[in-house]
Amino acid sequence: MPELLQAVKGMNDLLPPDSAKWRRIEDAARTAFERHGYAEARTPIVEYTPLFVRSIGDATDVVEKEMYTFADRDEKSLTLRPEGTASCVRAYLEHSVHKKEPVTRWYYAGPMFRHERAQRGRYRQFYQMGCEALGVGEPTVEAEQIAMLHELFTGLGLTALEVVVNSVGGPDDRPAYRAALVAYFTPHKAELCEDCQRRLERNPLRILDCKVEGCHRLAAAAPTMSQYLGAASREHFAAFREALEALGVAHTVDERLVRGLDYYTGTIYELRAQTGDLGAQNTVAGGGRYDNLIEEMGGPATPAVGFALGVERLVISIPGEVESYVPPTDVFLVGHGKPARLACLATAKDLRKLGLRVELEHRAASMKAQLKRADRLRARAVIIVGEDELARGEVVVRDMGKGEQLKVPAGDVASAIKGILG
Ligand code: HAM
Repeated sequence: MPELLQAVKGMNDLLPPDSAKWRRIEDAARTAFERHGYAEARTPIVEYTPLFVRSIGDATDVVEKEMYTFADRDEKSLTLRPEGTASCVRAYLEHSVHKKEPVTRWYYAGPMFRHERAQRGRYRQFYQMGCEALGVGEPTVEAEQIAMLHELFTGLGLTALEVVVNSVGGPDDRPAYRAALVAYFTPHKAELCEDCQRRLERNPLRILDCKVEGCHRLAAAAPTMSQYLGAASREHFAAFREALEALGVAHTVDERLVRGLDYYTGTIYELRAQTGDLGAQNTVAGGGRYDNLIEEMGGPATPAVGFALGVERLVISIPGEVESYVPPTDVFLVGHGKPARLACLATAKDLRKLGLRVELEHRAASMKAQLKRADRLRARAVIIVGEDELARGEVVVRDMGKGEQLKVPAGDVASAIKGILG
C-alpha cells in the first residue's frame, strides 16, 4: 500500500461544511469593506525577500524566525508573504498610485505564511482580509476602520468583543522612549531571554512583546510610551478616541499594547473575541498607523493606516453550528428509470436558470434512497418523475415542509415550485 500523504504541518484543508461559514464571513467582509470605499487589490503571494525585511523590520519575530524564504531557480531570494501591508505599499509605489489619487483605499484577502508554533488559532498558512487607507493622516479614518470591524463582527454574531487601543508614538517621540527602555532593562539584562538581550541593543520596544515569562514580568513594570508622547501624538490619539466615541464604539486603552511589526507609528488597535477557547489567540483583527513606511520604502511622505483580520480565528469565535451556514437545496429531483432521469436532467437545467439551487440523483438509486438524500440535503421541494408520470406528461411535486404532494403537468413545474418556495 502506498503511504498516505498529509498536509504540511500548520496548514489546513478547508472543506464543507466549514467552507460555508468561511464563505459567509468573507462575503460579509467584502460587502462591508466596499461600502466603506475600499476596492480590492490582489498582489502576488511571493515577493522578493527584502520587501518584508525592510518594511516589517529585521528585528521582529516574523522576519527573524517565521518567514518561508527560499531561493528560486534564478537564485533570487523569495519569501511567501507573511502579511499584506508590505505588498500593498510596494504595489502603491511601483504603480505610482500616489501620483494619480490623493487617497487610496484598498482591501485584500488571501493566505499568509508564518512558520509559527502551530496551535488552535495559530497556523502556518492562515487567511487574512485587510484594509489599507493610504494618504489620510486624520485620526477619524482609523476610528472608522474600527467601527466598521465592530459592526461586521457583531453582525456575524460575535457580540462579545473587546476593542483595545494604544499609541506607540511617532519618530519624534521614539528616541526618548527607546532610551528610557534601555535604561530600564539594562540592569536586568541577565534576566532577559537570549532574543531580548539582542533586542535590547537593536530594538528594545520588541522586548515588550516577548512571551517568555521572565521578560514578560520585567516588561510589565517598564516605562510606558504614553509618558513619552509628544503634543502632536497626544492630540492625534485624543481625537481618535473622540471619533471612536462618536461612532459608539466602547474601547479600552492598554498602554502595554504593542504589535509584532515594526512599521507602526501612532495609533494601534486590536479587536479581541471574549468568548471561545482561543486563549492568547483571541485577537481576531489588528492594525494601526504606519505614517513613515511609504517614505521609508522610497516613496513620498504619505500617512497610512490599516488592519488585517484573521478568518480562521473568526470562524472559531463566531457562535453557531457550521451546518447552519450551508444553504438548503431548493429542489431535489428524483427520477425513476433512465428516461425519467434524462427528463429530470433537463428540468433541473431550466430551474437553475430561475436562480434556484437544484440537485438531482445521477445514480440509478431506489426511490427510497433518493428521497432520503433529498431529506439530508434539506431540500424544500422534491420533484418525482416515474415512468407513469413521464408517459402522462406529468410530475409529482412534493412540498417537504408541509409533507404534501400534488401532480402537475410537466409544463407547470416552475410555477408549482415557486408556489412552494414562496
Ligand atoms: P497581525 O497582527 O500580524 O497584523 O495579523 C493580523 C491578524 O491576522 C491577527 O489579529 C490574527 O487574527 C491573524 N493572524 C496573524 N497570524 C496568524 C496565525 N499564525 N494564524 C492565524 N491567524 C493569524 C498584520 O498582519 C498587519 N499587516 C495588519 C495591518 C494592516 N496593519 C496595518 N495594516
